Amino acid sequence: MKIIMLGAPGAGKGTQAEKIEEKYQIPHISTGDILRANISAGTALGKKAAEYIDQGLLVPDELVVDLVVDRIHQPDCEKGYILDGFPRTIPQAEYLDKALAEMGTSITCAIDVEVPDESIIRRMSGRRACLHCGATYHVVFAAPEKENICDKCGSELHLRDDDNEETVRTRLQVYHRQTQPLLDYYGEKGVLKVVDGTKELDEVFDSVVKILGE
Ligand code: AP5
Repeated sequence: MKIIMLGAPGAGKGTQAEKIEEKYQIPHISTGDILRANISAGTALGKKAAEYIDQGLLVPDELVVDLVVDRIHQPDCEKGYILDGFPRTIPQAEYLDKALAEMGTSITCAIDVEVPDESIIRRMSGRRACLHCGATYHVVFAAPEKENICDKCGSELHLRDDDNEETVRTRLQVYHRQTQPLLDYYGEKGVLKVVDGTKELDEVFDSVVKILGE
């Protein structure tokens, strides 16, 4: 099962991907988490990526494509995986298709989590992220058991630097310009599925399970 999560920033891709990982026991691969881990570790990749992420822009394709293709060659990806935040541009999608064809495989489905822009802006101010393990919470809709502490690894939770309203608006513009064309790309391939991301978390997941099967 090789799944791509599509949708605007804050639509709930990461939240649903975590649930898919748990139910179907396939790894959740988030390019945003990988880049943020590099920023925290102060690597050369992290330093370059931060220049773009802080402004709400996409990092250049060449910084992410090999990183993802290397990751899906790892043994834990043999049964499948969930790509969250990748691909994000048509060239990234074409690169992925080529790599998958060379591996003799293809994408099972691309799930678009649809949420209107104004709901996203309201949601993002309440998001809290664990920069250690990548888990995502919301102060109202998905609160951790202990305030500001990650349920999974016990680390402190943070408001991401790129979650302020101005940067979120830029990220939404970038999404509409550079990433939304992927809906047609995967639609034409016949693998696009759409779920209503404005519903409650568990209802959204029920729709995902209907697509993926029990
Ligand atoms: P990335 O980390 O991928 O950010 P994003 O795509 O902007 O998505 P988010 O993580 O912000 O949101 P999400 O859809 O996962 O929503 P979540 O589940 O957290 O990328 C960050 C940056 O890295 C990019 O801007 C770019 O610079 C760079 N980058 C990454 N990949 C790249 C690539 N391939 N190419 C180039 N650059 C790349 O949910 C949001 C909030 O809402 C949470 O608080 C959650 O609890 C809550 N929530 C979720 N679902 C619901 C619901 N149904 N009801 C109520 N609340 C909900």
